[in-house]
Amino acid sequence: MAGKEHIYRHPRYYEIGFVNENLTSEVEFILDCYQACSGKKKERLKILDNGMGTGAYMAEFMQKGHFVSGYDLSPQMVKFAEEKLKEIGKNYSVFKGDLKDFATEEKFDLAICLNGSFQYLMEIDEVLRHLKCVYKSLTEEGLYIISLPWPGSFIEQPPGSIEAKWKNTRKKISVEVDWTYQQEEIEWEGQTFSGLARIKVTDGDRKRDLEMEYKYRLFFLQELKAITGLSGFFSFAGFFKEYGKSGKPVTVKVVLKRK
Ligand SMILES: C[S@@+](CC[C@H](N)C(=O)[O-])C[C@H]1O[C@@H](n2cnc3c(N)ncnc32)[C@H](O)[C@@H]1O
Repeated sequence: MAGKEHIYRHPRYYEIGFVNENLTSEVEFILDCYQACSGKKKERLKILDNGMGTGAYMAEFMQKGHFVSGYDLSPQMVKFAEEKLKEIGKNYSVFKGDLKDFATEEKFDLAICLNGSFQYLMEIDEVLRHLKCVYKSLTEEGLYIISLPWPGSFIEQPPGSIEAKWKNTRKKISVEVDWTYQQEEIEWEGQTFSGLARIKVTDGDRKRDLEMEYKYRLFFLQELKAITGLSGFFSFAGFFKEYGKSGKPVTVKVVLKRK
């Protein structure tokens, strides 16, 4: 047995287990949010992906003719994204960087932060440091679109109250995720929730046990509105809910406009 490594060290398995195979409609939704809130056309944009993970979204944006740049704290993710994007073309750059302390040479029309990356910012001062970096990397009136879990779902179905398990298979590799293997209740003072997901990978003849220890910050919309307003770097341009099969909101895209 290979031991319990964190799944971020294995981007290929992470992508199979956690990233939607068909990102076309979500990417189109992000571009529609951009057009609606900026009043500008959603074509040939320069897009910065904060905490890009495997670069799956960047690949989709690139295929639509946009220039993409992205960074991640994990060197394995950066290497994986680089290999993926170079297969598509030259219209990209990737680098190792921290949400709280990064800088770009280029200026971007649109910054994005998707699927949990923003929730690694635990403290208000970390959010402010991050917003300052994004502000510096955007063009004037550039937009920042952050995807967050819909906060209401944490109240209706608090962590620990439901079981979440799934199995995804791609190209003969299957990744089984037990997300609620160990999940703690929300720690309301810090607005965090944490847990341990168990992950079983079957890659040909090889079986591996991986895990994902997580601690995420829960953000409420009015709180985010207050933080971004007080930061002086952004104004709140709107938010757009995305609905799941149950008819209830699952995620929300928060749109900030650079001042
Ligand atoms: C849940 S994944 C989401 C990845 C990607 N946004 C997506 O939608 O597939 C979170 C990513 O954030 C990265 N990350 C965590 N803390 C970070 C930090 N302080 N700076 C940059 N990246 C970070 C992790 O390495 C991981 O790739």
